Formats: sequence, C-alpha cells, structure tokens
Amino acid sequence: MKPKVVVVLGARPQFVKHAAVHQHLSSLTDEILVHTGQHYDAQMSDAFFQQLDLGEPKYDLGVGSGSHGVQTAAILRETESVLDNERPNMVLVYGDTNSTLAATLAAVKLRIPVAHVEAGVRNNDLSIPEEVNRVLTDRVSQFLFCPTQTAAEYLRVEGLADRAFVTGDVMLDIFLGSKTRALQAGAKLMSHLGLKEEGYLLVTLHRPSNVDDPDDLENVLKTLCKSGRTVVFPAHPRTSKVMRDTGLMTEFEDEPNLKLVEPLDYLSFIGLAYHSAGIVTDSGGVQKEAYFMGVPCTTIFDETPWPETLQGGWNVTTGQAPDKILQAIGRSRPNGLRGQAFGDGRAGVKVTQIIAQFLGKVT
Ligand code: UD1
Repeated sequence: MKPKVVVVLGARPQFVKHAAVHQHLSSLTDEILVHTGQHYDAQMSDAFFQQLDLGEPKYDLGVGSGSHGVQTAAILRETESVLDNERPNMVLVYGDTNSTLAATLAAVKLRIPVAHVEAGVRNNDLSIPEEVNRVLTDRVSQFLFCPTQTAAEYLRVEGLADRAFVTGDVMLDIFLGSKTRALQAGAKLMSHLGLKEEGYLLVTLHRPSNVDDPDDLENVLKTLCKSGRTVVFPAHPRTSKVMRDTGLMTEFEDEPNLKLVEPLDYLSFIGLAYHSAGIVTDSGGVQKEAYFMGVPCTTIFDETPWPETLQGGWNVTTGQAPDKILQAIGRSRPNGLRGQAFGDGRAGVKVTQIIAQFLGKVT
C-alpha cells in the first residue's frame, strides 16, 4: 500500500505551488487533496485545478471568508475530522495562509508529521497576518522546505536548521514548465484586449493595507492612471468588492488608460506578464514571477519577503507614495543578470524525494 499524504490547499497561490510537487508526488503516494474553500470562486479556484492538472479535491471544506479567527478555527475543526478519518502518514502544507496554519495545528496535535513548503520566509513584521502563520507553522513542522538560502538562514537563527532543506522555489518549476503554453495564452489575450508588446503595465492588488481603505486604493489607481501607460488590472475579488461597494468601480470604469478585467487563469496571467512593459503588484508570488521572467516589478508595499528580487533593480518597493510609484514605473529597464537564488526549477522533485525517503519509498 502506498503511504498516504493529505495535502491541504486553500488559496490561489497554493494551487500554483502544489502543481510543482503534485506531478512527482502523486505517483508515489496516495495523495488526498483537501480544499479548505478559503478561495472559492471559479476564477480563483476551479480554473487552477483544471489548468494545472491537480485533479479533484477529495474534500471541499467550504469554509469561505470570515475574520482570521473564524476562518482559522473553522479550517482547524474541519481538517481535524478529515485527518481523523484518513489517518495519513503526513500532512503537506504551503505558504502562509490561514489554511496553512490551521491544517498544521490540526495535524501536529494528532501527532501527524507536517511538511511545510515555502518555509523560512520572513518579513520580520508580526503585524502582517501571514508572518504569524509562517512563524508558527515552521515552529511545529517536521520538514521545512526552503525556497532560498535567505529562508534557510532565518530558520538557522530561529534554531530550526536541523529540519530545514533548501530545495529552491516550487513556483519556478511550474513557471518554467508552463512557459510555452503561457506565451501562447498571453498572445491570444493581448490581441483580444488590443494590447501591444511592452505597451502596457500589468497590475495586481489585493493586500488589505492597499485595498481595504477605499481612499488608499483610489490614490494608488489614480497614480497608475497618471503613468501615461495602459494599465491592465485583473482585480482580485477582495479588491473588486471594495470597488463595487464604494463607487470606485464606476469612477474607474470609464478611465481610458485602465482596463479592468476579471482575475486571469494562470497561463493567461503569466503570458500577459511576459509581454508587459512592467508589473505593478503587492502579491508575494507575482514579485518572484516577474523576477523569473526578467520583467521590471514595482511593489506597492514597504518591504518584500523576497529581498533577492531587489538586486539589480529588478524589483523596487514603493509603499503608496505617488512620487515613488511613478518614479519606479518610469525607471529604465534593468539590464543586470538575475541570480539563481530561487534554485534550478527542480524544487518539486527535491521535496518529493525527501518526503518519499521519510515515508519509506526511496526514489
Ligand atoms: C498572498 C498571501 C497569501 C494570501 C494570498 C491571497 C503573502 C506573502 N501571501 O499570496 O497568504 O492567501 O495573497 O490571494 O502575502 N495569478 C493568476 N491570475 C491573476 C493574478 C495572479 O493566475 O489574475 C497567479 C500568479 O501568477 C501567481 C499567483 O496567482 O502564481 C499569486 O497569487 P496571489 O493571489 O497574488 O497570492 P500571493 O500574494 O502570492
């Protein structure tokens, strides 16, 4: 009988990350997918399961939105009953969401070992909810898979070096493997939206500190519209809700430079990003993807959990100050080399090998 691994996923970036491990792990183990329902609409969830060949989740916990406490508690309770039912040999979690922390707590209290992919990432700021999730998850997980040396160094300082493995970043694997299909999807979408090669900025915004206060969001969007570029903005559901509820949607709908679109599927997003003049984002994952593809990135946040991307000017953090944002967008294209900080695109294999060895399935 194959060893059983329960994989708990809840949000868009986790679907992308698991795709890199799933392609290796699923043949060696009995892989049981649990979808917590943190991201539930078709564009943020179903599209990713289909496009990334993740199969169907066996369990859909349907937890949905809620305050941090309500959401984390609901996922903890529901995951515990799944784990009681399945009795897996291991639980696998990704990143830093409430699903990550809740599933980890459920597992460790049942004495089931947890493997955490994207371990050791730090902002050094516990006021960021994701930072709390990362620190606590790392503290009690048995396998800590680090995307970079920087992450491994944080774990060493925290006394967790004996559980840490530098595997590289799983997002790089899936990015490299999807390049051809993404470029095709991007070209198709460009023609549909009437966009020219490097003639537009691609923007994503969803962090509470940028979008929950409509005044902040309005200022950022007004600043982007002043850039003189066409701005393509696939709005995250959190962001479009704020825009609809506060009249910002009506205000920006007729803005000639701004193309507001629904959240994109993975291949279309990566393809459109490739062909853009620059990316403006507050997403953790998108900053890395910009770096992988060599497109200049402007990050609307005061700091980044990915300091490697700042080297050579590929990424610049601006906060919300309009002059800083415009200056960063207008900077000339960096021409320095990008390093190998995120590994060699084989992180998924490395994670799988370590898990398989532990579970007695030597690869
Ligand atoms: C962040 C949080 C995470 C939270 C999530 C909510 C950090 C470090 N992490 O992750 O805890 O759960 O936001 O969304 O703050 N993409 C598309 N289509 C789009 C836009 C993006 O496919 O229209 C893809 C990108 O290519 C990338 C992934 O989605 O692979 C990034 O997801 P994103 O929602 O931006 O999450 P993060 O900021 O990485």
